[in-house]
Amino acid sequence: MAVDLLLGLQWGDEGKGKIVDVLTRNYDIIARFQGGPNAGHTLEFDGIKHVLHTIPSGIFHEDAINLVGNGVVIDPVIFQKELDNLSRFNLDIKKKLLISRKAHLILPTHRLLDAASEASKGKAKIGSTLKGIGPTYMDKTGRNGIRVGDLELDNWQEKYRALADKHERMIDFYKADIQYDLAELEGQFFKAIDTLKSLTFIDSEEYLYRAQAEGKTILAEGAQGSLLDIDFGTYPFVTSSNTTAAGACTGLGVAPGAINEVFGIFKAYTTRVGSGPFPTELFDENGETMGRVGNEFGATTGRPRRCGWLDLVALKYAVQVNGVTQLMMMKGDVLSGFDKLKVCTAYNYKGEQISHLPYNIEAENVTPVYTELNGWKEDLTSMKDASQFPAALNAYIEFLEDELQVPIKIVSVGPDRTQTIHR
Ligand code: IMP
Repeated sequence: MAVDLLLGLQWGDEGKGKIVDVLTRNYDIIARFQGGPNAGHTLEFDGIKHVLHTIPSGIFHEDAINLVGNGVVIDPVIFQKELDNLSRFNLDIKKKLLISRKAHLILPTHRLLDAASEASKGKAKIGSTLKGIGPTYMDKTGRNGIRVGDLELDNWQEKYRALADKHERMIDFYKADIQYDLAELEGQFFKAIDTLKSLTFIDSEEYLYRAQAEGKTILAEGAQGSLLDIDFGTYPFVTSSNTTAAGACTGLGVAPGAINEVFGIFKAYTTRVGSGPFPTELFDENGETMGRVGNEFGATTGRPRRCGWLDLVALKYAVQVNGVTQLMMMKGDVLSGFDKLKVCTAYNYKGEQISHLPYNIEAENVTPVYTELNGWKEDLTSMKDASQFPAALNAYIEFLEDELQVPIKIVSVGPDRTQTIHR
């Protein structure tokens, strides 16, 4: 079995980019399987910070091939900007970066539709990143989408025009106050399409099948997190793709039996951007401290992230749905300095104490039940080995392992590649 998965287990922003970057040397191919430029994967090394949106996080490693899978949606304009940002690294992009012909394209009108739809929702808005993700996946499942492979056909621009015209009529339907200059947006779009067409398009499921037969190792990189999954997340406050393990099968064309390890990444506490329920959210100075020390601002939108204690009820659910085999705890360093740490181990749900995630986790239905653990004062950021960990951190980790019944194999103690401790 040649395919390992790497998934975020909370509401995204767990630090997947960093871990893919750390793990990449073990893999021949890194493949993104869902989502689009709503993601922002941050990598830090040699004193420089990089944010990737669509391009897999293995791009900086010399030997790894990076694949944008069929389950991903690509905005050519953002893609071009990502490529521009990479140009100073002199990477052989045509060789290192492969794109599935079956990946769908985000059109300028998809972004406008996203904005019009959100504006029409008023207070019920999802807090979308407004990158056109929802409308693009709607066209995919509605069988109207334009795929990367269409760019190799002569008549794709006719298909484009028909779809963009339909989108304009839909934007009018929303009667939202959206100002736009479509001619200008299309100018940028078609220029970016030319750049995209200079890259390597492949039948990626076939490529991955052969790679497995040749004994190559593959890491499937997820985006967002399990609680943003279209089926299992906090619907409707979710993204439009399957962020969970099964999404790797449909988003790459790998068979379930080919999957080996499932790495689950979580933060030592919880964050969320955008709207939607968040039972352990803090509105006090503890939440404020997590946000400040953890620099909790969205990598794509710059929005401040909501912060709260670790929610083990939700985390257990994610471990189950994904079949996680190894855990990685991120941002352990951010919890240094708290006297006491709380972990949510059950919910009071309609007068009953439960330990599973119910259908409805809005604040009026759910109150978290906490277990309190001792905090630690030591700064973890320069630690190099788990033997240096304070006793209270070890107790925190062991408590989580006991509850989740999965080993925590990596503890991250800072954003840099080097601040990663294996246990
Ligand atoms: P969309 O996928 O941009 O439409 O956003 C839907 C919801 O998912 C919103 O609450 C976003 O804030 C959230 N979301 C989307 N992508 C990410 C991500 O990469 N990290 C964290 N939250 C995200």
